Amino acid sequence: MQAALFSPMRLRSLTLRNRIVLAPMLTYQARNGHVTDWHLAHLAKFATGGAGLVFMESTKVDPRGCTTANDLGLWKDDFIKPLQRITRILKEHGAAAGIQLGHSGRKARNALPWLGRQPIADLPGVDHGEPWDLIGPSAIPHSPNYPIPRAMTSRDIAEQIDCWAQATRRADQAGFDVLEIHAAHGYLLHQFLSEDANQRDDAYGGSLQNRMRFPLEVVRTVRANWPADKPLFCRISAIDEAGWRLEDSHVFVRALLAEGVDIIDCSAGGMTRRSIADPGPEAKLGYQVPYSQSIRSHTGAQTMAVGLIIHADQADGILRDGAADLVALGRELLYNPNWPMDAASKLGITQAFSMVPPSYGYWLEKRADAGFARATSTWPRH
Ligand SMILES: Cc1cc2nc3c(=O)[nH]c(=O)nc-3n(C[C@H](O)[C@H](O)[C@H](O)COP(=O)(O)O)c2cc1C
Repeated sequence: MQAALFSPMRLRSLTLRNRIVLAPMLTYQARNGHVTDWHLAHLAKFATGGAGLVFMESTKVDPRGCTTANDLGLWKDDFIKPLQRITRILKEHGAAAGIQLGHSGRKARNALPWLGRQPIADLPGVDHGEPWDLIGPSAIPHSPNYPIPRAMTSRDIAEQIDCWAQATRRADQAGFDVLEIHAAHGYLLHQFLSEDANQRDDAYGGSLQNRMRFPLEVVRTVRANWPADKPLFCRISAIDEAGWRLEDSHVFVRALLAEGVDIIDCSAGGMTRRSIADPGPEAKLGYQVPYSQSIRSHTGAQTMAVGLIIHADQADGILRDGAADLVALGRELLYNPNWPMDAASKLGITQAFSMVPPSYGYWLEKRADAGFARATSTWPRH
């Protein structure tokens, strides 16, 4: 039987060679918003390892939206050319090039994770030392130890929409094939959706329809500025810790589909300090897959599942069970960038070693023929 994991997928005019996606992951290695050689070396590994789609980390549309001073940016045209080097190498190695655009809103301005990740009260801005103004839907901090953001005015909202439009145009010029809007994990768009973070009394707050207004305006703008033949993804928190329910996601997803979103990337959590996006030691394999399954079956959306997808047969099973159309792997691909080749080998695909360049594959196939490759895996389903 042909593995579902290795079946190509057509999205608008793009064909992905398989269903394996590198999830967007911040690496905190940017300099004033710019990519460095790090990003080239880091991302190229996943293309040469055989992934179908490689997402670059959350890249900010506005310097105020950076989670840390080492986030990537797309708020000016200077960023376009260096990014072209990255999209080129990904495509040269058969992967589609994806970019996630985001804005951290009230969760911006933190220390690096390995330096404690604490919010910083004051810090020069990422771009050229400008004051770093923290904005959000309402003047409500993320948690008591976070600074209070400034509630966005209607002018700020209009400016933000323009930031998304311009960043989208730049992402296209940089050569990306897929754009993902980050509307999850307690960041700006999710903050607007949340009854907890958004206590506005204008057209952008109150009812679910009103709370969806700003995120949907962003999506509409992005779609209008993103070529019609290129696919658009949106990452959502299917549920959060502050009252957002799966039923709310069903309503939101239907609206996203109406705006021309092609894939719903189903994550969760991040609205309070305790994040269920990374639930810690109690985490179970595929802990967010049920959200993808529910959204897919209730709305008819094509979905991407993410979260502790580790084993080849687990990933293939998610697709065969109809729980998702794509699987995104984060930390497992950091652990083994050649995971697609390894998974193909474990699923018994004869051409497994052709997933990597012949400089590797030729030798690895010879080694496997001599009986020295790991060719089996067991996933403890129960
Ligand atoms: C180091 C790191 C950075 C991350 N950065 C992002 C990001 O930029 N955007 C995003 O939506 N999720 C981000 N995530 C979440 C991942 O995309 C993914 O959803 C999460 O790690 C669960 O998948 P996994 O178990 O396969 O790692 C990050 C996760 C990690 C570990």
